[in-house]
Amino acid sequence: MLANMRYRGRLCLKYHRPFWKLYLKYRGRLCMKYHRPFWKLYLKYLCAACVISFISMFCVTLSEDLVDWFSSFHTKIDVNRIVQEFQKDKTIYENTTGADEMFKKIRILCLVITTSGHLNKQIPVVNATWGTRCNKILYVMCTDKKQPDILNSCDVKESKSHLTRKVRFMLRYVYLHYLNDYDWILKADDDTYVIMENLRFLLSFHNRDLPGYLGYHFNMHLKQGYMSGGAGYVISRSGLKKVIEGAFKENGCPPDGKDEDLDIGKCLQMAGVPPLVSYDKYGRETFHTDKVWQHFYGTVPQYLKKYSWNGLNDGGGCCSQFSVTFHHVNPQTMLLMHQMLYRTSVYGRQTPTDITDMFHIAKVLPVL
Ligand SMILES: *[C@@H]1O[C@H](CO)[C@@H](O)[C@H](O)[C@H]1NC(C)=O
Ligand SMILES: *[C@@H]1O[C@H](CO)[C@@H](O)[C@H](O)[C@H]1NC(C)=O
Repeated sequence: MLANMRYRGRLCLKYHRPFWKLYLKYRGRLCMKYHRPFWKLYLKYLCAACVISFISMFCVTLSEDLVDWFSSFHTKIDVNRIVQEFQKDKTIYENTTGADEMFKKIRILCLVITTSGHLNKQIPVVNATWGTRCNKILYVMCTDKKQPDILNSCDVKESKSHLTRKVRFMLRYVYLHYLNDYDWILKADDDTYVIMENLRFLLSFHNRDLPGYLGYHFNMHLKQGYMSGGAGYVISRSGLKKVIEGAFKENGCPPDGKDEDLDIGKCLQMAGVPPLVSYDKYGRETFHTDKVWQHFYGTVPQYLKKYSWNGLNDGGGCCSQFSVTFHHVNPQTMLLMHQMLYRTSVYGRQTPTDITDMFHIAKVLPVL
């Protein structure tokens, strides 16, 4: 195997035996004229290996996505099979009257920002899980595929640095075609998981005919702050009307850029569309910028501490019982969340549908 490998020094390797056997015993025709101890020979490589593993460990602790990437090598689940199983749903529900009534009363148009590369990955999973609970869903991407639930965005450049233009394009499209058909417009990514029933419950405390928007509230850059893009945000139809008819026509409301959430937040602020309170009466957030366990364990990225308008809580205080979104959810995890939320019940316990004080009917007042 490694017979021709040359090492420094006068170590001649004429061996034909596999590499590992070579070091089993040192007899044989291996002429070792080396004065340095054997291990020193490999010190250089040993050090390099240590440094590389240290750096990768460091990176792994930094990024949950990297952990996902590594774990994807040993946990291969058949996403398509599970999607099909979910479509033949055999879960028994005690009573979905509360959710069914809300579905008719609070109509939500979901806009999922995605790319054609995700047509066979994320999109079928979204479409089989929370997507089914939108009153209408549009997948926004640039593709040749023609389908009623795909909004073709080829007119805007398809790249991360043109996200703002993409979102403006789709909001304008909704304004032109659907303004009166839906009460709220939800913007989500294809790695956002949305619990639509809880979103409707939260929105039942707010008025679609008043300008306003809700999401995970960041306190940076703007006087009224803005909502995290990945956690998803929802704009009242009155708010949509105001921002399209007003701010989108003005200078100062960014026409394009990569920080879609900040840019749209700027436009909404200019248009006089205020952030509404989205945490529950115990101060627990409903929209979340990361996965449920990151919020629960308190292992969210460092920036969030600085960015959070309401402050960070981990453990039991991390998340409302009526949480609405989680972000950075890959297809496997999305299926798992769906399994736990909709296909697992705790026998004999049911939440009432007539809770009237869980959320506040308030605007967030800007910090002066
Ligand atoms: C289901 O719940 C609603 C209230 O949300 C109630 O009015 C109705 O009677 C319940 N139906 C059944 C079959 O329990
Ligand atoms: C989503 O699911 C619906 C209903 O099963 C289907 O008609 C539609 O084509 C799917 N959309 C995409 C983009 O896969």
